[in-house]
Amino acid sequence: MSDHPAPKLVAAEAALRSRLNAMTDPGFSRPDLHAEDAIISRRSIRAFQDKPVPEALMRRILEAARWAPSGSNIQPWKVHVLNGDARTRYTDAILAAEKNGEPRDMEYHYYAPEWREPFLARRRACGFGLYGAMGIERDDRQGRHDAFVSNFKFFGAATGLLFWIPSDLEHGSWLDYGTFIQSISVAARGWGLSTIAQGALGEFPHIAHDMFEIGDDYKLIGGMSIGWPVEDAPVNLFQPDRIDVDEFTTWLD
Ligand SMILES: Cc1cc2nc3c(=O)[nH]c(=O)nc-3n(C[C@H](O)[C@H](O)[C@H](O)COP(=O)(O)O)c2cc1C
Repeated sequence: MSDHPAPKLVAAEAALRSRLNAMTDPGFSRPDLHAEDAIISRRSIRAFQDKPVPEALMRRILEAARWAPSGSNIQPWKVHVLNGDARTRYTDAILAAEKNGEPRDMEYHYYAPEWREPFLARRRACGFGLYGAMGIERDDRQGRHDAFVSNFKFFGAATGLLFWIPSDLEHGSWLDYGTFIQSISVAARGWGLSTIAQGALGEFPHIAHDMFEIGDDYKLIGGMSIGWPVEDAPVNLFQPDRIDVDEFTTWLD
């Protein structure tokens, strides 16, 4: 017999009640949205209204997302919320870097160095679908470039996030980070907001390091635009499909 009996399992309902009680009231009423609906209605939005996410609401979303799981509960996340002048200064600086042809020196490899099937075909379908929705022809390099550069403008969103991870952490912590980013996206859906995760926001990391005085003990993963979509923007009509469950699942008895 152990001197330390296992604590009574806290039921999900009890966890929900105690955690909810401690959360910020953003001053908005919360739509009634099932968790599954929040997950499947999340779509990457690439045209946002120029309307900042109020601080209390942004705080509330982060208060929810911090309950994301992480190995040994190490919680490797560090977030900058950019609004107002900070958001403008950062956008202006990365746009200038892009215009001046400064090297894009991401602090990690997002993709494998060689593209292969089936990923190449999926990537192509995503690109063609996205540019097609915007009416950009396949050989319109300038059009594609301009569309890509919208990443650096947070796709018009007034509120943006930057995600940092301690440089010395390993793959497992990057896995943890994925759960955190998705939790922000889903929590945002719960409040009627839309998001897009953006690796592209990590393409000029030295600018963020300098501007926000973050040393090389952290790496910039990228960021996120968050807010309310421009409902009728053609780019927002693009809805990439998914492979079937049976294409990635093996059922074993
Ligand atoms: C970690 C991460 C980084 C991403 N980076 C970008 C990006 O830099 N720019 C962009 O337009 N979309 C980006 N996306 C969005 C993907 O293109 C999008 O999730 C995918 O095409 C599926 O579409 P959906 O999110 O609308 O379902 C990113 C998504 C994730 C999860």
